[in-house]
Formats: sequence, structure tokens, C-alpha cells
Amino acid sequence: MTIIAPSLLACDFLNIEPELLSFDGVKDLWFHLDIMDGHFVPNLTFGHPIIELITKKSPHKCDAHFMVTNPEFHGETLKNMGIHNFTFHVEAVADSLSLIKELKKNYPSVGISIKPNTPVGKLSDEVLKAVDLVLVMSVEPGFGGQSFMPAAYDKIKELVSRRKSLGAHFQIQVDGGVTDKNAKELVAAGADNLVAGSYIFKTTKVNYKNKVESLR
Ligand code: DX5
Ligand code: ZN
Repeated sequence: MTIIAPSLLACDFLNIEPELLSFDGVKDLWFHLDIMDGHFVPNLTFGHPIIELITKKSPHKCDAHFMVTNPEFHGETLKNMGIHNFTFHVEAVADSLSLIKELKKNYPSVGISIKPNTPVGKLSDEVLKAVDLVLVMSVEPGFGGQSFMPAAYDKIKELVSRRKSLGAHFQIQVDGGVTDKNAKELVAAGADNLVAGSYIFKTTKVNYKNKVESLR
């Protein structure tokens, strides 16, 4: 089943615990944590104490998306905090393959992300064979609530075809502007995992579980 990853950036930060618990019992759900450093992207979000509180309370796997210039540092300092998937940006590091190998020692799943202007070709065959997840950004990273960029569809298709020819096993995740208007086409293109912030949390009708299922 398609994994849905609610982006906690859009949740009610004064009520994080009840927000987390309102997804209790939902299958194939990850919590997506957007970590921004004010350098790789202009915005700031949250740091290690909040990440640790969330991973300890979470009834679901935690998926940390690092929009930072120094993912190596965070990979090392967060290694015992219960993060399931650790994704960093290919644009942020000189040697992605070495970092993937290092992170694999401490995280069950390691992902690599490409910004909208970064082609799939930037990811080498070796990288695609080593990672567990490729995150295709369908908005410029830095802010929630932006409009979906349709160029993501072709990137997903290209990744599906490279995965097949390489015999690789990574899942394909899409992040940014995902709603019930594009989810079906994204899954048809080959997306395995959809991140959604505003669509799930910025709603007057507070039934997050229905929102999650409407994306599948
Ligand atoms: C953007 C973040 C996204 C964002 C998604 O930099 O990586 O995860 O929170 O939010 P929506 O779904 O509102 O575009
Ligand atoms: Zn994200």
C-alpha cells in the first residue's frame, strides 16, 4: 500500500502529542519531520529536543527530511533517537555515497532528495543501488503550503525505469503540494510514498484519518 507521510510542519505545535495520537491505528503511515537550518533553505523549523520528543511519543515510524548543509553532523548526533528514515539532500554534500554508507550503520532506512531543479541524472547508479528511498521535491524546499510542480511526474517515471534497469529497491517519495487532486496520478507514475502537510492538517474538518485515506 502507498505510504502516507503527514508532514508535522503543518500540525498544531502546541498540541503535538494529541496530533500524533490522532493517527493511531492507521496502517502504512510515517510521520514526516522537516528539519531546516536557515542555510540550506532560508527557513528554520525545529531541532534535536523536539525530534526526540516526537520519536519517543510516536506510534508510527519517523521520517526525517534534513534540509541542512551538514547532514553528517545530524546523522551522528541523532543516531539513537528512534528515527526510522534519514533523508538528506544530494545538493548539500560532496560525496553522497560515503554518507549513505555511514548512515546505513545507524538508521534502518536512508533516503536522498533532489530539489526541483536537480535532475535525476545527478544521482549515480551506485547511489541508487545503495539508498532505501529517493525523495522527489515537488516544491522548492523551505516552506509548507506551496503549489505542486508537475515536473515531478517525469522524475518519478525516470526513477522507476532506472530502478528497474539497476535491479534497485528504493522507494520513491514525493513531497510538496500533495493533495487528493494529484495523489492518484503520482501513484500511477510510480510514487510509493506521499508526504502531505497542508492537505492533512490545514483543514476545518478535523478528521486526519479520512484525509490520509483520501490520498490512497
Ligand atoms: C517543504 C517540506 C515539505 C512540506 C510539505 O520544504 O519538505 O515536507 O512541509 O508541505 P505541503 O504538503 O503543505 O506542501
Ligand atoms: Zn519534507
